[in-house]
Amino acid sequence: MSFSNVYDDDRRAEAYAALEFPGTYYLAYRDLPAILAKYVTGHKALDFGCGAGRSTRFLKNLGFDAIGIDISSSMIQSARNVDPGGTYELVEDGDFSTLEPAGFDLILSAFAFDNIPDAAKRRELLYGLRRLLNKEGRIVLLGSTPEIYVNEWASFTTKDYPENCHARGGDMVRIVMKDVKDARPVVDLVWFQEDYVNLFAASDLELEAHYTPLGREDEPYPWVMETSIAPWVIYVVKKRSRA
Ligand SMILES: C[S@@+](CC[C@H](N)C(=O)[O-])C[C@H]1O[C@@H](n2cnc3c(N)ncnc32)[C@H](O)[C@@H]1O
Repeated sequence: MSFSNVYDDDRRAEAYAALEFPGTYYLAYRDLPAILAKYVTGHKALDFGCGAGRSTRFLKNLGFDAIGIDISSSMIQSARNVDPGGTYELVEDGDFSTLEPAGFDLILSAFAFDNIPDAAKRRELLYGLRRLLNKEGRIVLLGSTPEIYVNEWASFTTKDYPENCHARGGDMVRIVMKDVKDARPVVDLVWFQEDYVNLFAASDLELEAHYTPLGREDEPYPWVMETSIAPWVIYVVKKRSRA
């Protein structure tokens, strides 16, 4: 099977537009306000792979002046429908020419890199995003851990895809979202921490911190593995400092 952007699809865009932060997704976003407050100075933000705008609206609610970009016209249309006053731009893959170089304090990528096919493409995109960061800017990359594809979760199931266990860095894996009407599997690519560390170095970036949020027993969600295994990872990345 060849890999394509499973998000460039009206039904999936509609499902995403209705999705806010249920269940396991709550954990992805729970700690972001504190992380952004700790590492990011300034308010100009770019949301790379904004999808139906959930992550852009999240940034706007935190006070960021945020622009969302995506390569899927269905997603951009959904984002505009949900937030008509927001700024959502359809871009060609890797074309950041409409965006101001060194114009951003923060570039957030929430789940976009889970679907980007190969390491060279990821490097090209990250290097392009790096050019949009100002000197003190940070890229915050939120993505799936390899463990999400081999466990059961409040919001996801992978039990029908035991072959995920054998996936190596860059291999395709499948996961079904339980919180949306669209029950078709999402096809992602699994990336391990060492893959990300190599990617950052190859993109002239430096990993500053990383977080793997765990669920807490007192949270009002039916956690399955979330209290002991982290489904998400958050990387905080900056331009590599020169000696
Ligand atoms: C899983 S969705 C996440 C959307 C949103 N950030 C959120 O958290 O709800 C990933 C999005 O990344 C987009 N994407 C994938 N590759 C991209 C690229 N090269 N440039 C811009 N967007 C991309 C997809 O079209 C999709 O809308």
